[in-house]
Amino acid sequence: MLQTNFVDYTFENPLMNASGVHCMTDKELDELSASKAGAFVTKSTTINLREGNPSPRYYDVPLGSINSMGLPNLGLQYYLDYAIDRQDKFDAPIFFSIAGMSVAENIEMLEVIQASDFNGVTELNLSCPNVPGKPQVAYDFPLTEEILTKVFSFFTKPLGIKLPPYFDLAHFDEMAAILNKFPLTYVNSINSVGNGLYIDVEQESVVIKPKDGFGGIGGEYIKPTALANVRAFYTRLNPSIKIVGTGGIRNGQDAFEHLLCGATMLQIGTELHKEGPAIFDRIAAELEAIMEEKGYETIDEFRGKLKSITD
Ligand code: SIN
Repeated sequence: MLQTNFVDYTFENPLMNASGVHCMTDKELDELSASKAGAFVTKSTTINLREGNPSPRYYDVPLGSINSMGLPNLGLQYYLDYAIDRQDKFDAPIFFSIAGMSVAENIEMLEVIQASDFNGVTELNLSCPNVPGKPQVAYDFPLTEEILTKVFSFFTKPLGIKLPPYFDLAHFDEMAAILNKFPLTYVNSINSVGNGLYIDVEQESVVIKPKDGFGGIGGEYIKPTALANVRAFYTRLNPSIKIVGTGGIRNGQDAFEHLLCGATMLQIGTELHKEGPAIFDRIAAELEAIMEEKGYETIDEFRGKLKSITD
């Protein structure tokens, strides 16, 4: 009932982790693969291991989370070895996230992936808001086009990109026009809403240490922004570019809303961090119950079919 066709493969359901949550080590990744999730993505990697920002750097709050992790990861070779080892044991393709500190680092990693035996899907993260001194690439439109031009001059494996939220229709138009020039497999909207500030009133203090408390916001706070980005790109991109919907999915209804806006796969970050991998059983069951109540047998019957108010 929840089966989803994506990159020439039928996934059991569209649910995944969002990169960054429960995907740093092989143990966490194995737990995701053993969970009800239809697929999983590895932690955004750089060429070399990174410690990331000082702690506390992730903080759960009642309506979501704030983080400034700073891309801690175990390095390209660690995740590539893992993915190549496991891809023959797991049925579903593995999603592999990279987030270089420069154009050159992204190109170098993609060259390694291209030359490797990895046969899954690569996600190029152009939207990390948490590395001091490194602005989010995807807010620089010419730079995004320059990177994608370089990437697609040699990279032939399935590739998606992870985008930050946009807040203006002109920006949706401009970014979509750029993305439509490239054979992208998907666009993942959205990464956290960058550089929010959460305050502990009792302590009269910020709650995370890096960047004087500024960090990416996730969870319930960001669902309307995530839905708008999914919808905006679904209605602007070539149909061959699928949408991965990320942001504010806490229950089956949130998942249903993302699918109605046009998402094909769904990633869960903040709520996975709060509940652990058992969340995928709950959300899959809740989504199925909503579909049953509405009389839908497959997701394709309602995907993207959000209604407008016409008069
Ligand atoms: C981080 O490691 O700082 C989070 C990565 C991201 O938001 O892209």
